[in-house]
Amino acid sequence: MKFATLHDIVKRARQNLDRNHWDYLIGGADSESALKRNRYGLDSWVYRPRILNDVSGVQLSTELLGSRLRIPVVLAPIGSLQVFEADGGTTAARAAEAFGVLQILSSVCTPDFEAVARAAPGPRIYQLYLMGDEAWMDDVIDRALAAGYTGLCLTADTQTYSRRERDILKRYVPPSGSRAGGSDFGYQASLTWETVAHIKERFEIPLIIKGVNAAEDAARCVEMGVDVVYVSNHGGRQLDHTRACIDALPEVAAAVDGRVPVLVDGGFMRGADVVKALCLGATAVGLGRLEGLAMAAGGADALVRALEILEHEIRITLALLGISRLADLHAGLLERAVPLTTPHALSAFPLLDEDY
Ligand SMILES: Cc1cc2nc3c(=O)[nH]c(=O)nc-3n(C[C@H](O)[C@H](O)[C@H](O)COP(=O)(O)O)c2cc1C
Repeated sequence: MKFATLHDIVKRARQNLDRNHWDYLIGGADSESALKRNRYGLDSWVYRPRILNDVSGVQLSTELLGSRLRIPVVLAPIGSLQVFEADGGTTAARAAEAFGVLQILSSVCTPDFEAVARAAPGPRIYQLYLMGDEAWMDDVIDRALAAGYTGLCLTADTQTYSRRERDILKRYVPPSGSRAGGSDFGYQASLTWETVAHIKERFEIPLIIKGVNAAEDAARCVEMGVDVVYVSNHGGRQLDHTRACIDALPEVAAAVDGRVPVLVDGGFMRGADVVKALCLGATAVGLGRLEGLAMAAGGADALVRALEILEHEIRITLALLGISRLADLHAGLLERAVPLTTPHALSAFPLLDEDY
């Protein structure tokens, strides 16, 4: 039976995943405060809708780095995707292509980026963790270009691997974590603005910097020619006690001032969440855990279905806000409010434990 709601998809994922893989997907770093704040931040904005506008033709597509997105959403990079569905990165690539959004492929999942490109051609972006010296990095970028990747995403919030205590307590090490714990991951600590300058100077590939939280860094990215600024706290999986990403977004969007696209992720699970980010200046929103949950619920088909439901939710949200074009969304459609529920990774799904 076709999934009717995102609730259904999350419920099925919970049934399908064993405790190790569930905790790896859902968990965060240390006290999981940053993870909860992402949801708290989203729930702290409420809508101020406008009425009596013609919304009979709501339009949801946008463009990012020369690719058309059917909805303003990208698939965020997820390491160890293969533990949720055997074909990992290839499955996500196929779903992204079938639905019409961009995938950002993690550098720590299987199959590797060249095999994914062969199995599922189509525009996609490669997320890079530095696991070697500059010559190693240059070779990987050359190969990503040769394999047809249309963008490079450098993740800048992972100078070192954090402590994910759900995993540590069970002595569970995900495949990506074993690389991260290994000596090759130590190169991430030496990532600097010079690396950014080097990539911009040497390669034609559009560059996304992921992990931006402060206006100063966003401004510096744009000054250095970075093509997309990506606001993220790694889903609360790296530095604990960060701000919610939705709360970092306004100052980043102001600093970028429309010069390049702005992506944001962190806690986005529903169409109404996505639209809040668009009101606050994002071009598109990254899906992390929702992507993993959908893959665990039923591979590429379930991921496409999750995107279809999300599309439906975004369309309804826009129509009920009185907006028919993404470009017409603005911060005046939002207002601050006290969240209703205690936030947690899945608080966007209040019916998970109900018997339907
Ligand atoms: C299981 C898992 C693995 C992840 N692996 C990576 C990775 O390899 N590279 C990366 O840049 N971000 C990684 N992230 C972070 C996501 O790209 C994204 O920033 C985050 O999940 C967004 O928050 P959300 O899960 O609340 O949507 C991972 C996130 C999860 C949940």
